[in-house]
Amino acid sequence: MEEAVLVLIKPDALQKNLTGDILSRISSTGLEIIGAKVVKVSRELAETHYAHLRDKPFFEDVIDYICGKQHGRNKVIALVYYGEDAISKLRALAGKTNPEEADPTTIRGAYGRITTKGVYENVVHVSDSPENAEKEIKLWFSPEELIIDLYPTRTQVEGSRVHKVWA
Ligand code: TYD
Repeated sequence: MEEAVLVLIKPDALQKNLTGDILSRISSTGLEIIGAKVVKVSRELAETHYAHLRDKPFFEDVIDYICGKQHGRNKVIALVYYGEDAISKLRALAGKTNPEEADPTTIRGAYGRITTKGVYENVVHVSDSPENAEKEIKLWFSPEELIIDLYPTRTQVEGSRVHKVWA
């Protein structure tokens, strides 16, 4: 099944100059890139993205991590890939959530670490289901930032500006 998936190259990966390696590993899947940008992550965006972890003891640390608090600058690279079985292909490439349990040939196994506080610095985010991919892509991207019409949109008029938003 052709599907879309959100990938985030997290602040630890950017600080360690891993972007090129991550992108070339992803290229090997043959999936198509349909959106890409650098994002300064607001606390609100981080909290919405990780809303499912709100009750976990590590929630605050994960929010600080994705906002770049431990890695010098507040930025991530956000990408949308599209193609056959995109989610399972990219989850396999990323490896397990816990970098110590991830196969060493995966991105997280090769480059991730667990901090002394117990936070998983695991280099990349990859959506884990079509439902979450849709939610996450709509959160991180506007329709006009993607080169494929993935989900229904509507037209919004703001003064003289007409643009598309997610329906
Ligand atoms: P989660 O959504 O469960 O995993 P994944 O990123 O593989 O979809 O968790 C989100 C992030 O929270 C995860 O990438 C790293 C961090 N995390 C921890 O620091 N400790 C933990 O015990 C878990 C489960 C996650």
